[in-house]
Amino acid sequence: MDSEFWIKKWQQGDTRFHQAKFHPALEKYSQLFSPGKVLVPLCGKSLDMLYLASRGHLVIGVELSIIACRDFFKENEISFTEKAVEDFIVFESDKVTLWCGDFFKLPEHVWHEVSGIYDRAALVALPEEMRQRYAAEIVKHRKESLGILLISFEYPKDTIEGPPFSVTEEEIKRIFGPLDIQKLQSETETKYTKDHPKLKSIDLTETVFWLV
Ligand SMILES: C[S@@+](CC[C@H](N)C(=O)[O-])C[C@H]1O[C@@H](n2cnc3c(N)ncnc32)[C@H](O)[C@@H]1O
Repeated sequence: MDSEFWIKKWQQGDTRFHQAKFHPALEKYSQLFSPGKVLVPLCGKSLDMLYLASRGHLVIGVELSIIACRDFFKENEISFTEKAVEDFIVFESDKVTLWCGDFFKLPEHVWHEVSGIYDRAALVALPEEMRQRYAAEIVKHRKESLGILLISFEYPKDTIEGPPFSVTEEEIKRIFGPLDIQKLQSETETKYTKDHPKLKSIDLTETVFWLV
């Protein structure tokens, strides 16, 4: 899954993953984050960033698509500045800063500033080999104050082609190995789909984890 795949998706307006409301798990669990900056990898133009900002956090999103970054500020009527920093374009506002570029190239000083990570549809957006690299990046930057709220999906094997990819709890335990992993909640919903001609419905399990 290369950068072009996602950049094209945004260009074509194929962003069904985007939610018009913030994720309900945030109301229950965002208080787990220590005060300070929350990193939102692969953030798209998620409204969850606004929720985190409303709870007093400074938010740092990382997103490949410049369309997503610009739309986030424009659609939410937030004034921002734009500047080039290393391999990124940085969009800055009072409470939310978006680093437009590749998550895997995020400068070290940004990692050092964060006390929380929020992942909804980020890990599951990546194929297996990239999920390992993604988790390794987070594990490499772990520190006592860092907590990760992870919202992951699982569905029966070989039913649909990702993304989103199905990620099992076993895989999460394996790739985030050294971290302490707590399962906060898990809900299974039957989704009816017209996208997959052979499949009428699919059981999608969404699980929320807290990793420290
Ligand atoms: C499935 S979407 C989820 C977006 C957001 N988390 C949400 O809940 O709406 C995955 C996003 O990750 C972005 N992305 C994929 N690979 C990336 C990378 N290596 N670095 C930064 N962003 C990336 C894509 O452009 C896309 O917007």
